[in-house]
Amino acid sequence: MTILVTGAAGFIGSNFVLDWFEQNDEHIVSLDKLTYAGNLENLQPLENNENHIFVRGDIADEKLITSILNEYQPRAIINFAAESHVDRSIHGPKDFITTNIVGTYTLLEMVRNYWYNLDGQPKKKFKFLHVSTDEVYGSLDSNDPPFSETNAYAPSSPYSASKAASDHLIRAWHETYGLPVITTNCSNNYGPYHFPEKLIPLCILNALNGELLPIYGDGLQVRDWLYVKDHCTAIRLVLEEARIGETYNIGGRNEKANIDVVRALCSILDELQPKKDGSKYATQITYVKDRPGHDKRYAIDATKLESELGWMPQETFESGIRKTVEWYLSHQDWVSRVQSGEYQRWIDKQYQ
Ligand code: NAD
Ligand code: DAU
Repeated sequence: MTILVTGAAGFIGSNFVLDWFEQNDEHIVSLDKLTYAGNLENLQPLENNENHIFVRGDIADEKLITSILNEYQPRAIINFAAESHVDRSIHGPKDFITTNIVGTYTLLEMVRNYWYNLDGQPKKKFKFLHVSTDEVYGSLDSNDPPFSETNAYAPSSPYSASKAASDHLIRAWHETYGLPVITTNCSNNYGPYHFPEKLIPLCILNALNGELLPIYGDGLQVRDWLYVKDHCTAIRLVLEEARIGETYNIGGRNEKANIDVVRALCSILDELQPKKDGSKYATQITYVKDRPGHDKRYAIDATKLESELGWMPQETFESGIRKTVEWYLSHQDWVSRVQSGEYQRWIDKQYQ
């Protein structure tokens, strides 16, 4: 048996594939275009694993997708592939439309054709799991109840609008063609291999390099943080046990204001790697221009996943954030290789 995982060299995709092989040895074919965010080094621990195959390619490449499906006959597909960074989508939405919408559409069409031609048990058991985000629901006020699966979509950024569009396509391919799909909408992940354009890894690395820690606006925007391994566990569970055609919200019940997240990082760094001059990392915090269309608050009601499938996150924010800081401190080689690439050019464009 084989599953096809797209976007497998990115942050969550690589954590998922590594976690998968810690649990079982069912084959994975990893597909990734290796954009600036895809890093094959993340999958290096699997270099000698015969059950893992990596293919470089685009989910929008019809021929490639068809040949992968025909050759490896996957029993399921998990689609992580996407452009994922909100700020990049504001500077240049085109790649987001191309991958998140057209790419998902192409993948759906190729998979529909493959699934249609399957027979018996493989056809009956086939599943397409689409990994999406809580950002499709838009922004909450401080007293609003958390997002549930029945909230209307109200995306604010080109990124979230493109993900919302992809979710609609997934739903339509189920309703219209009967394709067996499941969608998950997860909150903010953090943990190992997180690309340092996103708040948590950016601030850890800036802190260590003696640079400023940029907080957009007043820093009071709230996100619900989930340790990436807990997201991976949820996806495995959803893949095996969730009801076809359903959507499931995934979140850590860890609502934090951005400024508090950065302060927490600073105090762990103060403890684990105190600054030589005796000053505190928090002195590097600086308030910068706000993100246009910045969503004020995300919060997830994960009751459906918890009650139907018995999922519970293992990490608290405190334990997960400490593990994350420790990971970055002990993976300086990974960090310096990432920082020597495209990442640097992006940082210049965004923060100068
Ligand atoms: P990421 O940017 O780290 O990784 C995305 C991966 O997709 C990269 O390896 C990239 O090379 C690959 N990719 C991009 N375009 C591709 C294409 N056309 N064909 C094939 N591969 C392509 O993103 P991530 O944070 O790992 O997010 C993975 C998925 O989870 C995304 O769909 C994202 O919307 C969703 N998600 C992310 C979070 C989060 O907090 N990071 C939360 C909820 C949902
Ligand atoms: O909610 C799920 C989403 O979480 C995913 O769908 C996205 O793919 C993922 O990137 C993430 O989106 P965010 O925009 O919430 O993540 P980011 O790390 O970019 O920002 C987190 C918060 O921190 C957000 O309110 C913006 C703020 N921020 C971010 C950066 C990069 C800052 O204040 N300063 C910064 O430099």
